Amino acid sequence: EAGISDIGIVISPQTAVPIKEAVGDGSKWRAQVTFIMQDEPLGLAHAVKTAQLFLDNSPFLMFLGDNLIEGGIKAFVTRFREHPSETSILIKEVADPRLFGVVELDGRGRVLNLTEKPKEPKSNFALVGAYLFTASIYHAIDQIEPSQRGELEITDAIQKLLEMGEVVKSHTLTGWWLDTGKKDDLLEANRVVLDSLLERTIKGNVDTKSKVTGRVEIAGGAQVQNSTIRGPVSIGEGCRIIESFIGPFTSIADGVTIEHSCLEHSVVLENCQIYNIERMADSVIGRNTKVTSAGTGFKTLRLFIGDDAKVEM
Ligand code: G1P
Repeated sequence: EAGISDIGIVISPQTAVPIKEAVGDGSKWRAQVTFIMQDEPLGLAHAVKTAQLFLDNSPFLMFLGDNLIEGGIKAFVTRFREHPSETSILIKEVADPRLFGVVELDGRGRVLNLTEKPKEPKSNFALVGAYLFTASIYHAIDQIEPSQRGELEITDAIQKLLEMGEVVKSHTLTGWWLDTGKKDDLLEANRVVLDSLLERTIKGNVDTKSKVTGRVEIAGGAQVQNSTIRGPVSIGEGCRIIESFIGPFTSIADGVTIEHSCLEHSVVLENCQIYNIERMADSVIGRNTKVTSAGTGFKTLRLFIGDDAKVEM
């Protein structure tokens, strides 16, 4: 959409396979995709250095893969193309900026300084994970030291650019922005996507004892038995939903089994098994994870679990 078709995706040894599988060669988007291995998670500025050879001194967009931005970044990129020699950052006013890079601006919107996750923020403007850089960023990165979390921070590199006398422009985002690296934002992103994109399509098998209402997508090979599904809900291929209730704003990936459980406003990834959970909400469950309950008496479970886990409540 922004007219960028030459794309490098920085991957780690841990994520290389699933990311390559999901993205393919980019032809789906008429883009050319190159995968760039970052062997260790040493920070966003380190990721830029890792990609330097691929970037080959061109101006470039860096986009953090977990950021979801309403309306995309076309306007941001179009403005940069008018002055492609000036770094440009995307910012957004947020209630609690302490979780982000924070930007201080002068009265005319020019960037004065940036701080990564400050305890006492000087403004409410957070750095959104989309940046437009020129080759001068490499000189700045060469001059920064790892932060307290042991990473070369891109925020510190942009601050260094300012100290080197470079102009850094800001572009304020007006639509919503979600940083899906955080659980509640991931659930919110799921809610927004289900709310705006989902259409009712039932391909799987729903027995006569089940009730499916609203915008529900049930993929092929899925089975729903003696259950209630209340949309918006997405259920992946080959899932088995048995004697359960799946409530609004829930996405269930392929190959998941849910028996004798109630779930809502949750994301469940591939091949999970969920048994006898009386009520689960606001939860994110990683791939191949098994959640079971040995007894009753829980109120609502709110879980955030990674891949390959086994949890018995
Ligand atoms: C990173 C950046 C931070 C920025 C955020 C946006 O944070 O370091 O400055 O505000 O992305 O998503 P991280 O996700 O690494 O904590």
